[in-house]
Order: sequence, then C-alpha cells, then structure tokens
Amino acid sequence: MNILILGGGGREHALAWACAQNPKCDRLFCAPGNAGIARLAECAAVDILNGDAVVEFCAARAIDFVIIGPESPLAAGVADDLCAAGILTFGPGRAAARLETSKTFTKELCAAAGAPTAAWARFTDAAAARAHIAERGVPIVVKADGLAAGKGVTVARTETAAMAAIDALFGGDFGPAGDAVVIEEYLPGEEASFFVLCDGDTLLPLGTAQDHKRARDGDTGPNTGGMGAYSPAPVVTGAVATVTMDRIIKPCMAEMARRGTPYQGVLYAGLMIRDGTPRLVEFNARFGDPECQVLMLRLGAQALDLLHACAEGRLHQTRALWADDHALTVVMAAAGYPYATEPGSAIRGLEACPDTGDTVVFHAGTRMQGGCLVGTGGRVLSVTARGFTLQEARDRAYGVLAQVDWPGGFWRRDIGWRAL
Ligand code: AMP
Ligand code: GLY
Repeated sequence: MNILILGGGGREHALAWACAQNPKCDRLFCAPGNAGIARLAECAAVDILNGDAVVEFCAARAIDFVIIGPESPLAAGVADDLCAAGILTFGPGRAAARLETSKTFTKELCAAAGAPTAAWARFTDAAAARAHIAERGVPIVVKADGLAAGKGVTVARTETAAMAAIDALFGGDFGPAGDAVVIEEYLPGEEASFFVLCDGDTLLPLGTAQDHKRARDGDTGPNTGGMGAYSPAPVVTGAVATVTMDRIIKPCMAEMARRGTPYQGVLYAGLMIRDGTPRLVEFNARFGDPECQVLMLRLGAQALDLLHACAEGRLHQTRALWADDHALTVVMAAAGYPYATEPGSAIRGLEACPDTGDTVVFHAGTRMQGGCLVGTGGRVLSVTARGFTLQEARDRAYGVLAQVDWPGGFWRRDIGWRAL
C-alpha cells in the first residue's frame, strides 16, 4: 500500500520509521516531512491544513492510507475531507477531535460519562474568573479553552500568577483560544500518558509513557512540548490501567459513539495518578511527541498493521505484541527553546550514530542546507533507544547523544529520573 503521513516532527519520523519496515508499505510519502524523514520517505510540500490539497495529492500519488500526525489537520477537518473522498485515514474527524480542541467539550463529556477529572468552571468574563480564583484559592489551574499549542495552561501556585494568567488569556495573548477560560482544581500526583487505539467500537491499549515537560533538569524552567519520554510508565500498574480503561476510556468512548461522533484514531489520555487512582487531565486526539518515538521503537513494524486495522474498523482482529522492553528518548532542542530560537545552526556527527533496531536518532526539526544538516525549529532531534531495562535504554540514548556534535543545542541530562 502507498502511505502518506501528515506532519514533519519527531513523532512523524517515528511513524515513518515503523511503516517503512513493514513489508505492506510500498511507497511512503510524508508532508512536509524533514531531513531525517527524507531518508525513508518522499517528502512533499503540501499544505496539510488544506483538505482539498491533501485529497488532490492522494489522488495524484495513488495513496491508499493516510496517517495524520499532529492535531492541527484534525482540527481543520482534513480527516473528514479524506473520508469524504473515500481515502482510508487514521485520525478522527473534526467533531471527534473536539476531545482535544475544546477543554469544555471534554469536561462535559467526562461529566456525562462519569469519568473522574478535576472540578472546573468556564468563564468568558475576566472579573468573574478573578472572583472565582479569589474564592477557591491556590494552587489552581488556568487554561485557554481552545488549542494553544500546549502553551495555554498555567498551574498557579500564587494568586498573583493565577490573575496574571487571566490577564494574558483575556488580553488576547493566545488569540481566539483564550476567548473562554477554564479554571480547574489542582490535581496532585504523578502524571502519565496512556494511549489507546479506538476504531469507533473496539479499544486496544497501546502502551504508556511519561514525558518531561519542563525545559531544564530537575523539572525546572518553562513548559515545553516535551524534552524527553520513556515507556512504559511504571506508575501505570496493571491495576491503574484497568481502572483507567473501565472508568475513563470506555465510558468516554461509549459517550462519543452515543452522541453520533464515534472516535477513530489514537486517544492519548493525560492522567494524574495519586494513591493508585487515575484522574483525567486531558485528552489529545493524536500521539504525543516525543511519546510516539518511544512507543514506535517498542512496537516496530506492527504499528502499521495496528493503525491500518484501526482505520478499517478491524481492531477486534488484532493484538499488540509487546516485548518485555523499555524505550527512552532525549530531545535535543535549539538554544532558547521554548522561546524564540536561532534556526540554521549546523549539526554534525549523525553519520556515526548507530541506526540499529535499538537506537534511532529521530529528526524533529531539520533540513539540508548546502549539504549540511541544520536545525529548523525548537525541538530538533529526538535520540531514542531501547533496552531490556530502562537504565540500559537510557545509557544507550545518552551514549548516542554524546556522538552528536551540535553546539547550538541543549538537552536535559535527567530523562527518566523519576523511574530510576
Ligand atoms: P494540558 O495542556 O491540559 O495537558 O496541561 C499541561 C500540563 O499542566 C499538564 O501536563 C499538567 O502537568 C498540568 N496540569 C493541567 N491540568 C492540571 C490540573 N488540573 N492539576 C494539576 N496539573 C495540571
Ligand atoms: N508531549 C506532549 C504532547 O505531545 O502533547
């Protein structure tokens, strides 16, 4: 089959890496892709937020299957356009992607499904939001209702910080995403990411991971898209996984189907776990980045079979075969990330890095410039390794990373600390 992957980050490189190993994959395309993906797939400059343009590309290249990586094409309804054109697609339509694009939608869904989550209130008026914060006290969590590229959330430990977040959101810092604000109860505990494939009917758990959102060692510094991850997450014990499926995933997915918007794709549940009890922090309608890198390294080629079966509504015929292994990824980011970065600094040494089934340097934001590999964004590389133990995976990942010669980058030195 001919496959098109939408996106161009480390997540999409990992998806391409898994697909390329599967003998069912004939031609592999990626839009827009990046310099690492270009070694496995034909990269194409298609506007991935324009459904008509994607459909046209699929027709021209005889694409049989589209895998949507990031949330923005989902929010733009590209999966709906592809399905309307009869092209098999992995990823939910716009209506079901509201699980990620609207915090209010998810909160109401949880209420209808009886799924445990933080108490919340929604405000479109700054004065009422401030009064609510004054009444509830801190710590408290202030969120933009809409998509804000992972930057619309403030976990406020002081009232001043909470009020500043209200000012920023209603002041327009986050555009229309901040027109409505959700204020939530602060949930203490340990976070984990829980992934499930859903074909509208059958659910297939696809592993767990933990990421590191803060930019600096010791979980300090600003929030980022994720500086590293590992899988599995030890905090998600068998008992926690069972409760998560029974109390959160199954009832929420049943409620989506009942409403006439069954969910198809990967559901990423962000959990807060305390004393063995999970509560839902958020849903995302896609794989996490960099969590996808560790999941794909562990799953390998079978990932394509699972995603394909999911899109075709055949998940009941599948199962995921897990080795008793661990994977860990370390993100190398451009100096300055998550704020403005200088693009274009040269990266050397990757040729010498081993590319075995156990270690892969996924590219998150790279391109070739005058024969030289350069970084193009904030997150640039995702150095990923697998091992029998988490310690082994970590040692391998940092061993490979040491061979990368990139003075313009920085990375955390403590990925996995919580589990080791
Ligand atoms: P979100 O964009 O909703 O995933 O929020 C970003 C991060 O903020 C989460 O990964 C958590 O670390 C934190 N967070 C969000 N909501 C809460 C909450 N209710 N209690 C504690 N931490 C939260
Ligand atoms: N790593 C967090 C996310 O992809 O949302």
